[in-house]
Amino acid sequence: MQSIDAAAATPHTEDSTQRIAALNRNDKPFHVVLAQQFDRQSIEQLCQLSDMIRTIANTRQGTQFLRTLLSHRRAMLYFIQPSTRTFLSFTAACQILGMPHNEVRDRSTSSEVKGESEDDTIRVLTQYFDLIVMRHPSEGFAEHVANMLNKMPRPIPLINGGSGKDQHPTQAMLDIYTLLRSLAQPKPQRHAPRYTADLLAGKTIAFAGDLKRGRTVRSLAYLLCRYSGMRLLFIAPPALQIGDDIIKYIERHGIEHEKLDDIRPVIGEIDAAYMTRMQDEWDADGESQSIDYANYSLTYEMSKRFKDNLVIMHPLPRRGEIDERIDTLPQAKYWDQVKNGMWMRAALIASTFNCDGAIRDHYYAYYTY
Ligand code: NCD
Repeated sequence: MQSIDAAAATPHTEDSTQRIAALNRNDKPFHVVLAQQFDRQSIEQLCQLSDMIRTIANTRQGTQFLRTLLSHRRAMLYFIQPSTRTFLSFTAACQILGMPHNEVRDRSTSSEVKGESEDDTIRVLTQYFDLIVMRHPSEGFAEHVANMLNKMPRPIPLINGGSGKDQHPTQAMLDIYTLLRSLAQPKPQRHAPRYTADLLAGKTIAFAGDLKRGRTVRSLAYLLCRYSGMRLLFIAPPALQIGDDIIKYIERHGIEHEKLDDIRPVIGEIDAAYMTRMQDEWDADGESQSIDYANYSLTYEMSKRFKDNLVIMHPLPRRGEIDERIDTLPQAKYWDQVKNGMWMRAALIASTFNCDGAIRDHYYAYYTY
């Protein structure tokens, strides 16, 4: 347990070159564990790759091509914390790439109930599979596993599908993909480079809700630090404000930011609103119950003050943070996020197995004119 505790102690500190180097190979993620592994160029390339995959998948012939890419590899989806979208979009991503996959979703069905350690369980998985996608309740466990895998004779890649209260890098990638895609609207010429412009410069991006325990916000904040010229608003009850480690990271990157505790006065000046639910499963003593949710919610009445191009996002599941009548407004992008997650996860898996070149070649051979 020593190593898990040691790893768990580190995620809230600033990223170190060493930690990232242990997760990367040839300067690109081998294991996808921390959002800080992605620089601006890799974010833009993965957004573009996601677009290419979704275009190729539009035709039967394209779908068949994609299915050949990873039919010789197998994935294990080890999800021992509840999940709908992340699990299903990884499942769909494996299917898009023709990758056979299997799942463990409940520790009570594994030999862990007979006393097998989690580390041994992971070691077993490496004997059968070529990729592990993992959702786990403990911060740092994904990083611990990646480091353990590196020491094995045949290291296989690990993708973090959400680790405790700490990180959710693939969600952050689909979030930034959705944000950049939405801001690049109206769609430029079909094959024009879409993501390299300074799309976030001058924008006000607000995060609202439980920012202390919401891992998606933490990971997305790391990715946004690859951009400049925007203002970040963190709108949360004081006890659930974003961690100081994130604030320090943002400051190191020279990004303007402010902490607030009510979204209503500022809604009219926001270009992107990232709404989140209270993460009350982490409550020690029912503390979420005394919160005034009106401060961190979007009502239909507020929509009159929305900017025309406001991008409303939510990692989901939602409780009451966004009135359902907002769903049909053009500003609502949370259902796009759900779909974008599937393409982005397919792009991440393809890139992990170095299939990105084959996808680009196919795209340029068949889909450009
Ligand atoms: C999020 C998570 O699991 O962190 N869900 C998701 O993956 N889309 C957000 C949440 O549970 O609130």
